[in-house]
Amino acid sequence: MYHCSRVALSALLVSSFAYGWIATAATPAPQELADKKKKDKAVEEMMEKVHEGKKSPWKQAEKAAAQNPPDWNTLAGQLGKLEQMSALLKASKVSDISDSADSYAEAVTALVAKTKAKDVEGARKALGSLSKSCADCHYKDGIGGELEDD
Ligand code: HEC
Repeated sequence: MYHCSRVALSALLVSSFAYGWIATAATPAPQELADKKKKDKAVEEMMEKVHEGKKSPWKQAEKAAAQNPPDWNTLAGQLGKLEQMSALLKASKVSDISDSADSYAEAVTALVAKTKAKDVEGARKALGSLSKSCADCHYKDGIGGELEDD
């Protein structure tokens, strides 16, 4: 008996949730406002500068690290921009951004240390972690949106 009433109760809860959802979907204005607030203009601009195109610091760092031996000077020359990006993400007032910045920041910290030590495998590994960290923010309908492959 107890079990049956539990089922009835959860059915009631599910239907009221569904009703609430439909009611919310019918009035999209507050959600649109919330989405606008999640924008961080400074992050967006720096993202483009640091990651977009073959000449971007990120791509140059990857290319330099892939050489045998790595082009340490070129690699070292990109670190400042990557560190700035990392700091900007961590300091973002949009908590969805700052809360998702840990892997990016850790990868940059590791890359700086491994480059200083001229540790080939370590530097390549850190760059691998950096590439993976993009997905923390860039996914379909995520904070940074989905990234297109180039
Ligand atoms: C902590 C969150 C975060 C991480 C990690 C992150 N991004 Fe972004 N990225 C953003 C946000 C937020 C924007 C701005 C999106 C907007 O508002 O349009 C952005 C924008 C971009 C843009 C500008 C163009 C566009 O599609 O909006 C590029 C390119 C980009 N990111 C590449 C990368 C790459 C490559 C990585 C990994 C190496 C990365 N991002 C990691 C949050 C992040």
